[in-house]
Amino acid sequence: MAKTIAFANRKGGVGKSTLLTLTATALARRTSQKILVIDGDSQATIRTFSNAGQPAFDLETFDWHKEHEADIPALRFAEFLQCRRENYDLIFVDIAGTADGAEVATVLNLVDMVIIPVIASFADIASTVTFLELLAPIKTKKGDSYKLLGVINKKDRTLEYGQLEQLNGYHGMQLMANGISNLVRYRRDISVSEPIVPEGKEDEFNDYLEELLSNIQLTENA
Ligand SMILES: Nc1ncnc2c1ncn2[C@@H]1O[C@H](COP(=O)(O)OP(=O)(O)OP(=O)(O)O)[C@@H](O)[C@H]1O
Ligand SMILES: [Mg+2]
Repeated sequence: MAKTIAFANRKGGVGKSTLLTLTATALARRTSQKILVIDGDSQATIRTFSNAGQPAFDLETFDWHKEHEADIPALRFAEFLQCRRENYDLIFVDIAGTADGAEVATVLNLVDMVIIPVIASFADIASTVTFLELLAPIKTKKGDSYKLLGVINKKDRTLEYGQLEQLNGYHGMQLMANGISNLVRYRRDISVSEPIVPEGKEDEFNDYLEELLSNIQLTENA
């Protein structure tokens, strides 16, 4: 039974698709987990990344737009996810850059865990706070097993990055100790085929991945 994880925040451009892709690629290559990525963003960012190479994970697109008059996209997505849970160990879901649409609420209600990229700008911090408030009733309903994991993305030396620590624990979001810097390699070297850095190399991405893995608590495959 797959563990399902959404990468989400209320604001666009925080690195949801980038971090999801780098994470799924590295886990697919380095573990025996069977991984599915659902590209549920109408911009189809991950589908676009995959034009450059064969993904290390299975990739499917989910189209939220009406199939026909009687279509209920939330129900269609729930069924889409449910019948894939049996066949995978891990399912990552990429969603659009705003949390205001019904589609984002649908995904957040159905997954087991949300990874929230956070960025240190006034507008981004404010959006993350609002996003966590939006998630609070879902977390209350689902209990402790519903993990909200914050990851600092595009980290630099500005004062605001120090302030992000204050978000740790807010409405149950656990802020990871290992963040991702603002480096051109995350734009340039993104790949769906090979991990961004070799396994075992001393690197912040590997530190992030290790911390993430300890939070996901994967079940070992034979
Ligand atoms: N750590 C990083 N360092 C440098 N650039 C980054 C980093 N993370 C993401 N980017 C760049 O930031 C931009 C936005 O990233 P991305 O598309 O992953 O965000 P998103 O949250 O998925 O956006 P959207 O809301 O539009 O779906 C991209 O150009 C990406 O290459
Ligand atoms: Mg995206």
